Amino acid sequence: MVLPSHHQVVLPHPLHPYFLLPCCLLFFLASRPTVTIFLNLLHHLSILAASITVKDELFYGFLRPWLGQSLLLSNGEDWSRRRRLLTPAFHFDILKNYVKIFNHSTDIMHSKWRRLVAEGQSRQDMFSHISLMTLDSLLRCTFSYNSNCQESSSEYVAAIFELSTLVIERRGCILHHWDWLYWRSPEGQRFKQACSVVHRFTKTVVQERRAQLLHQGEPERHTDTTGGEEKRKRVADFIDLLLVSKDEEGHGLTDEEIKAEADTFMFAGHDTTASGISWVLYNLSQHQDYQDRCRTEVNDLLQDRKTEDLDWSDLSSLPFTTMCIKESLRLHSPVSAVTRRYTKDITVPGGRVIPQGSICLVSIYGTHHNPEIWPDPDVYNPMRFDPENSKDRSSHAFIPFSSGPRNCIGQKFAMAEMRVVVALTLRRFRLTPGGVEVRRLPQLVLRAEGGLWLTTDKPHTCSSLSQMDIKLTGTCCFSQV
Ligand code: HEM
Repeated sequence: MVLPSHHQVVLPHPLHPYFLLPCCLLFFLASRPTVTIFLNLLHHLSILAASITVKDELFYGFLRPWLGQSLLLSNGEDWSRRRRLLTPAFHFDILKNYVKIFNHSTDIMHSKWRRLVAEGQSRQDMFSHISLMTLDSLLRCTFSYNSNCQESSSEYVAAIFELSTLVIERRGCILHHWDWLYWRSPEGQRFKQACSVVHRFTKTVVQERRAQLLHQGEPERHTDTTGGEEKRKRVADFIDLLLVSKDEEGHGLTDEEIKAEADTFMFAGHDTTASGISWVLYNLSQHQDYQDRCRTEVNDLLQDRKTEDLDWSDLSSLPFTTMCIKESLRLHSPVSAVTRRYTKDITVPGGRVIPQGSICLVSIYGTHHNPEIWPDPDVYNPMRFDPENSKDRSSHAFIPFSSGPRNCIGQKFAMAEMRVVVALTLRRFRLTPGGVEVRRLPQLVLRAEGGLWLTTDKPHTCSSLSQMDIKLTGTCCFSQV
């Protein structure tokens, strides 16, 4: 049986407005059949080859002028080649060097919070602080660039925020879907302007780094900790790794390709991670018992240490904090759905056929709220991720990073950053609800209407800590909570 056009299939739970809206949008806008996918079919569809499963222009096309032909937007053989070339840059041997950066960016954000609390402003919008912090760390990991964006304004960072907002606005304005009209509108002009700021920045870094590589050779790939003092050499960042990456025939990425990938990391990596962290902190502010348990976990881990820096090996010693993060990614997934188009007819179990060219909306929100897999799906319960409770669960039941060959390449990076930020935040602050009702606002990532306001209790005092200490050493010495 072939599914008729605009047919919705496999809805194992009542329709929620959260999906109904995007689905209706698809229904009206797409000239192709539209299918919404939940768990039952996910397993079958996510193992399909990447050459059959492509990104549709309807959802992803507006990003193209900004991100170019990058991993996120490419298809088929081009995508496979890029994925092979980029994967080594996300090996844990590389990622472990970034944990220092996560600590440092978190320290800067916390010193800002302390200052605000001292000035009597204990209610903070998590999203605005955390987005700046994740941008700060991504700029360091991607370009080795210290933008100081958490402390002062930056043209580049303003352009990234502007582009994200304009993409959302364009999606919501049907007339602006038409390129001819959009590029003549004030919004289109602003988009062009912001793109040129971002592209100029990335292009300059790539060109400079290519020249540096020619003259000075490759930078260190790992931080050498043998013999006590760490080497002070610059550690390879994403740009360095992409410059030296080669395929089986010895071909590397061109400057234009590296620029597209770096822009994509900035886009795909900062808002998603900021949303993930903000919602964990929100959920823990609602559940003081879980918050206390996480705090005890990190305090026990850092007991008797000279500094508060977490390193890569510490991350596996935060099992309960990790469970709290995963449960938050389930309940408040930063990305609520992804879409795919199939280049040939796909027969699914039961004999039904998804016709070639259909746009399939894979609902991450729906999958994570399916009561058949997640009893009381709206309840925040980290114990769902206790290894004992998750051993029989399908690997397709929890998909915040999507699944299959086109899953998130940055998921280990994101999980590492989330663990560092959440653990250090709970060690230093007690979070309580900010007294404003929090309502979900699904945009490119899941936000909260009017911001996500939480109260950060006064940090524990420590006479030897000042903002200067944090800037110079990147470490902190609070007494145990
Ligand atoms: C909590 C944080 C994150 C979440 C929830 C998340 C989620 C996702 C999802 C759902 C996809 C699939 C998108 C699609 O198919 O349209 C994706 C893809 C991708 N993500 Fe992430 N992501 C996160 C962090 C990151 C980070 C930190 C980076 C890079 C530094 C990154 C880079 C990418 C890239 C390049 C892709 C495209 C992969 C491909 O098509 O092969 N993401 N992410």
